[in-house]
Amino acid sequence: MIRLFTAIELPEEVRHTLARMQNGVPGARWVDPSVMHLTLRFIGEVDENVAHDIDSVLAGIRAPAFELKMQGVGEFGGKLPRALWAGVARSPPLERLVQKIENVLQRIGLPAETRKFSPHVSLARLRDAPRAKIAEFVARNNLFAAGPFTVSSYTLFSSHFGGEGPRYVPERVYALR
Ligand code: 2AM
Repeated sequence: MIRLFTAIELPEEVRHTLARMQNGVPGARWVDPSVMHLTLRFIGEVDENVAHDIDSVLAGIRAPAFELKMQGVGEFGGKLPRALWAGVARSPPLERLVQKIENVLQRIGLPAETRKFSPHVSLARLRDAPRAKIAEFVARNNLFAAGPFTVSSYTLFSSHFGGEGPRYVPERVYALR
């Protein structure tokens, strides 16, 4: 079995900008800037032969490159905040790409994604972080903006759990043009 997801890799300068926000929240485990990404579709554990099918249908997708802007920050988890993230400006080409990925994955029999796509880049996982500090983080960084930058490919990653947190291996890169 292999654990897969598709994501957009971020330019180094955007990751640096994101890294500069990573402070001031006790209880936060900050995501290493070198592995920050924008998940398009989480796939999960699949057999190796299914992974091959996934690769071939993803390789068959035709979609254009597009410009993307990041903006704002937020938290996931409501009463029990579990993550801090940076947001993405609304982008119809991004949504169309995600829909195309969804369509081909369903075509080869993967279960449909039931959650609404909410594009974000995870900055931290939280455990017992003080609410006041989370609110301060959001207030302090709410005007964050980066880009636009050109998205000219996306990547199929495998995810591996290790001692120091997950390790993501780029398995295949698909060009957008
Ligand atoms: P996250 O950053 O919001 O946690 C690799 O794990 C990527 O897939 C991460 O970006 C993560 O999103 C996402 N991911 C991990 N597990 C997931 C799940 N069960 N459902 C949806 N997305 C998941």
